Amino acid sequence: MKKTEQLYEGKAKKVFATENPDYVIVSYKDDATAFNGLKKGTIAGKGVINNKMSNMLMQFLEKKGIHTHYVEEIDDRNTVVKKVRIVPLEVIIRNVAAGSFSKRYGVAEGTAFSAPTIEFSYKNDDLGDPLINDYHALALNLATAEEIENIKKTAFAVNEALKEFFRALNVDLIDFKLEFGRFKGEIVLADEISPDTCRFWEAGTWDTTQHTSLDKDRFRRDLGGVEDAYAEIFKRLTAGE
Ligand code: TMP
Ligand code: ASP
Repeated sequence: MKKTEQLYEGKAKKVFATENPDYVIVSYKDDATAFNGLKKGTIAGKGVINNKMSNMLMQFLEKKGIHTHYVEEIDDRNTVVKKVRIVPLEVIIRNVAAGSFSKRYGVAEGTAFSAPTIEFSYKNDDLGDPLINDYHALALNLATAEEIENIKKTAFAVNEALKEFFRALNVDLIDFKLEFGRFKGEIVLADEISPDTCRFWEAGTWDTTQHTSLDKDRFRRDLGGVEDAYAEIFKRLTAGE
């Protein structure tokens, strides 16, 4: 499949049309931003890792019965996906307190929850992706009640599958963000699953005060070793192949 015209350029990816109206090609860049684009940088090799990692995980989730946008990997940075209409919600699942949860509610990072929790943000850069609840999503016509139920159920199922997957790599899945899209009347998992969109902590490092991040927090928080962290998680992911 070949690219025709560019449809969109986001912070970390470009999207191109193809000859097939049902499919687009996503092209992963090395560009990184944080804090709604305020912080900008480059993470060398990130595009390749995020493309390949996301594709591996989407295929793994398909096998678990979760419907995704994944169609076919073309090369290191380019993948054919279904042309979905994105539901403008960022769906965040958390297993352990970190990031904005810790800040907002005054809970120390590394505090484990007895059960996973979910939150929605309204995907809107101009508003800074504000936190919303199900009823706000309905009031804003972002999704139907049925779609929201489906999204919640699917997001928790993704969490169970991914937690187990990463546990075997000696990595704890702390939290992550998902996006969903509509394709031919169906809700499918879209966007990416990568160190840009997940918090991965080295297993066993977070019941103390310190933890070792193998994700984009190394960029967000200027922790150093950004490229190495992406390479390390990717190495573990591909070790068994
Ligand atoms: P948060 O603690 O900053 O709300 O982030 C929760 C999770 O969502 C974390 O794994 C990083 C991911 N995330 C994104 O994928 N995109 C974003 O714009 C933000 C703010 C977080
Ligand atoms: N990707 C988001 C941005 O630039 C934020 C993040 O991942 O922290 O704004």
